[in-house]
Amino acid sequence: MTQPSTIVVSTSSAEETRAVAGAIAPLCVPGDVLLLAGDLGSGKTTFAQGFGRALGIVGPITSPTFTLVRQYELDGAVDAPVGRPLKTLLHADVYRLDSLGEIVDLGLGELVEDGAVALVEWGDVAEPVLGDGSLSLRLDAPCGNGDPGDLDDLDDLRTMTIGRSGERWADRWARLAEVLGPWAVDR
Ligand SMILES: Nc1ncnc2c1ncn2[C@@H]1O[C@H](COP(=O)(O)OP(=O)(O)OP(=O)(O)O)[C@@H](O)[C@H]1O
Ligand SMILES: [Mg+2]
Repeated sequence: MTQPSTIVVSTSSAEETRAVAGAIAPLCVPGDVLLLAGDLGSGKTTFAQGFGRALGIVGPITSPTFTLVRQYELDGAVDAPVGRPLKTLLHADVYRLDSLGEIVDLGLGELVEDGAVALVEWGDVAEPVLGDGSLSLRLDAPCGNGDPGDLDDLDDLRTMTIGRSGERWADRWARLAEVLGPWAVDR
């Protein structure tokens, strides 16, 4: 049976987006790179907060826009399904970088090989450098932002389209679809 190439979920609050991230996090193994795309304020950092919380990070997770990469040690407390513990969460934001060379210089590719998982905001920009084997997650606000009046109730809606590159996620794809079932959008 062929697998669908994308999984689409929807959320109606920031906390729900954190819950989606929290469902994905336990499936991650060292070396994984998750590329987060979406407009300003679409929820990339919010996703990272839920992801980190699920990995046992108790402190605040804030936007790494100026620091470029934040590193959170996980103390080996979280066991990945294959038994290799995730040692580190890397949270990067490449919005301010001008060239692919600068993204290469962050060294995320090497860092994840040493027991880390990486979340990269504006990851679509980093795709040529980090895309192979990555999970891509694009957040869309269907109604855009700021239109007052009737659309107010819809401001918190987000659609997340999840795709994969290469075979790295192939064995986990059915499981991913299963855990995201509660938020799945039928297409
Ligand atoms: N369903 C939702 N999912 C995620 N965030 C939501 C949702 N509904 C409302 N929000 C709000 O939208 C904002 C998302 O901000 P966040 O910093 O996560 O976006 P971002 O994509 O990281 O932005 P930037 O591009 O500036 O880094 C937060 O204020 C959050 O509370
Ligand atoms: Mg952000």
